[in-house]
Amino acid sequence: MQKTRGKVTEKVTTAIGTSNIAFVKYWGRREERINLPMNSSISMTLDDTMSTKTSVIFSNDMDCDRLFIDGKEEDLRGEPSEKSKFTMDMLNYLRIISNQDAHVLIVSENGFPSSSGLASSASGGATLAFALSHALNLGLSQREISIIARRISGSACRSVYGGIVKWNKGSKADGSDSYAEQVVNENYWSDLTDIIAIADPSKKKVSSSTGHSSTIRTSSLYASRPAFAEEGTGIVASAVLSKDFQKLAEAIMRDSNNMHATMLDTWPPIIYLTDTSRDIMYAIHELNLRSGQYVAAYTFDAGANAHIITTARHANEILDLLKDVPGVTDTIKSKSGSGPRILGDDASLIDADALIPLKRR
Ligand code: DP6
Repeated sequence: MQKTRGKVTEKVTTAIGTSNIAFVKYWGRREERINLPMNSSISMTLDDTMSTKTSVIFSNDMDCDRLFIDGKEEDLRGEPSEKSKFTMDMLNYLRIISNQDAHVLIVSENGFPSSSGLASSASGGATLAFALSHALNLGLSQREISIIARRISGSACRSVYGGIVKWNKGSKADGSDSYAEQVVNENYWSDLTDIIAIADPSKKKVSSSTGHSSTIRTSSLYASRPAFAEEGTGIVASAVLSKDFQKLAEAIMRDSNNMHATMLDTWPPIIYLTDTSRDIMYAIHELNLRSGQYVAAYTFDAGANAHIITTARHANEILDLLKDVPGVTDTIKSKSGSGPRILGDDASLIDADALIPLKRR
């Protein structure tokens, strides 16, 4: 790929990346424009079961950027959605640092099991940032790519690495110290397993972007959240390093409950959890009590679907238990994955129909 302004060789760059599940959550931003969080957070990057494949092609012959997600074009011009606005800001930023002005065609496909309602901005954002940085030959470090991914979606910055990943909140106004870094890779504690219980496949009622702002603005409980999450991030990091599942499980569940308490305390309240989510929480506490130790931990993002973190030897027990919870329509098992990678620059990696916008000149 040439970097000279106005001269870009058309080449398809395809990357694959995956979602992550936060063990300590990001909820609330100190700066909205470039997604700077109130607290650090820590997550496990998932494996290819929860992946997004993204191809990017820069071309001098396109008169605007175009973004297709799962075959549907996102409006980047008229009334762009919140997410599209963040994507456009990030593209303009990349054009400045790469000193080129060609437009880009982006074709992104989620490989999540269909009807799971799990379309993830983390997976999409990290894969896009990774594909664009490679297509432009920017020679960026993973840390720099995580900063670019953060501009698309906060949680995306953590999916730039595999294994267990911490997002340092940072304190600078320009966000240069708000980046993710790997705590351990995916092989360090390879029997950690995430069992996702689908409890509501529909689109979330309140976007996380809206939720981040309204909770900070209106919840009086939120005042204690940043310090609680900051401490939780440290507890989880040390539990992971010492492979202490007892410490890890309790910290994960307490953080999920703490975040959802601030959501309920938001005005008007934000309630993502459903009766099914609640039944899963009770079932996991009962299982842990019966077992005389923690064998599993639940955690919920901005939705009703549960992520049950456990170890490989308890996975079947959890899957059996979920069969008895009314409202669980599907389950997905994922281990920790290795983070985004380039699949290649072969045009055959992309569906030929996806290239039609390039041919309409
Ligand atoms: C509840 O990363 O979706 O999943 O920065 O607005 O894109 P934006 O928010 P997003 O928020 C995710 C919040 C969460 C917790 C987490 O993943 O840390």
